[in-house]
Amino acid sequence: MGQYRAVRGMVDVLPDETPLWQMLEQTARDVIGAHGYSEIRTPLVERTELFARSIGEVTDIVEKEMYSFADRNDEGLSLRPEGTASTVRAMVQHNLIQSAQRVWYMGPMFRYERPQKGRQRQFHQLGVEAFGVPTPDQDAELLLLCRQWWKRLGIDDVVTLELNTIGSAESRHAYKGALTAYLRQHVESLDEDSQRRLETNPLRILDSKSAATQNVVTGAPAMAAFLDDESKAHHDQLCELLGQAGLSFVANPNLVRGLDYYNKTVFEWTTDRLGAQATVCGGGRYDGMVGQFGGNATPAAGFAAGLERLIMLLQTLEADATEPPDLYVISADSNALSRAMLEADRIRTEFPGLRVVQHLGGGSLKSQFKRADKSGASWAMVYGPDELAQGTVTVKPLRTNEEQTSLGRGALNDFLHRLERLASDIEE
Ligand code: HAM
Repeated sequence: MGQYRAVRGMVDVLPDETPLWQMLEQTARDVIGAHGYSEIRTPLVERTELFARSIGEVTDIVEKEMYSFADRNDEGLSLRPEGTASTVRAMVQHNLIQSAQRVWYMGPMFRYERPQKGRQRQFHQLGVEAFGVPTPDQDAELLLLCRQWWKRLGIDDVVTLELNTIGSAESRHAYKGALTAYLRQHVESLDEDSQRRLETNPLRILDSKSAATQNVVTGAPAMAAFLDDESKAHHDQLCELLGQAGLSFVANPNLVRGLDYYNKTVFEWTTDRLGAQATVCGGGRYDGMVGQFGGNATPAAGFAAGLERLIMLLQTLEADATEPPDLYVISADSNALSRAMLEADRIRTEFPGLRVVQHLGGGSLKSQFKRADKSGASWAMVYGPDELAQGTVTVKPLRTNEEQTSLGRGALNDFLHRLERLASDIEE
């Protein structure tokens, strides 16, 4: 019998990686909570139409990448490829968009893409969506929030903010006309994908990765020339706010994003440390979606970060979030074991800041010490016949040259208090 393997593009996060994931998630919760945003949790499945209408019928995501199926009732459903559409649907459905509302979410998303480093079919996003504020201070706050998170993670030096404005739907429409007319004159120099997009989604040709296409794009009319005054003013104010906050960015006039719902501000945080899948976070303004989903017209802006890519980036910087046990509890025989288990239980109750691992499954003292060492624990707590007879426990340091000592109840509690303080200092 062959073994089962995970489905292609769906990846297990293994126990030695979860500490880094938990650290990433915790820093996000801390930073986003500190900005007054609340968490929202939406289903993994929505009507296919919800995504098609908002993300866009002619985007790669909707055309080629959705996990779509008919349920037993013949309803057309899809696994969510992103979180914005579901969030807006939920906010409108539950009538939550009356005032400035700020929410965030975290969880798996699904896109049938060709798997490669940094690109999976099930991946995880942390997203933030802010409703009700039309002015650029909202866009600026989202970017400052990202910067806070990058700083907490220690990656602020290795990510770059790329910023653009794509204007209003009307100005984009006018630009599309001019761009298409120009590109038609050079159609034979475009790559195959871009030739197809020329008729469906010409703006996406701007950020094509094909060198030949980029050559053509260099001579294309500039989007900036078609921008409406309001979008221009919005962008200028945003740039000014970012300047005042000391947040530097690279203006990228070809940044258009792969989802159709944006207007005005669009941005991506990229890194040169991850190869081809360089974007760790992307977002922008989407003032039309709430109205499109049947809510009162309400401006909105947000972003989503790709957690796998952030994890990879942390790994390239050799970040380590593992937390080895403080104590590894060893017992010489079954009598000692029952006392050891009781004590371990008591310690976990009275010293919740300590990580206490009980050795299970018996074995010689020597083999238990080996396991203790392998666990990374700082101390072994040993219960043997002598300790049992005297009502003591021996604590033996596993990482330093301190002496091992036998402690009665009072001295043990003092020792545990010291250890707990030390553990909380290290965490901070
Ligand atoms: P997105 O650019 O499609 O935007 O995805 C955001 C991030 O998710 C990307 O920058 C990338 O880090 C990560 N990502 C996307 N696809 C994959 C994949 N196949 N494998 C691994 N990581 C991936 C959105 O989804 C928008 N909803 C963002 C947004 C929120 N805009 C406004 N609010």
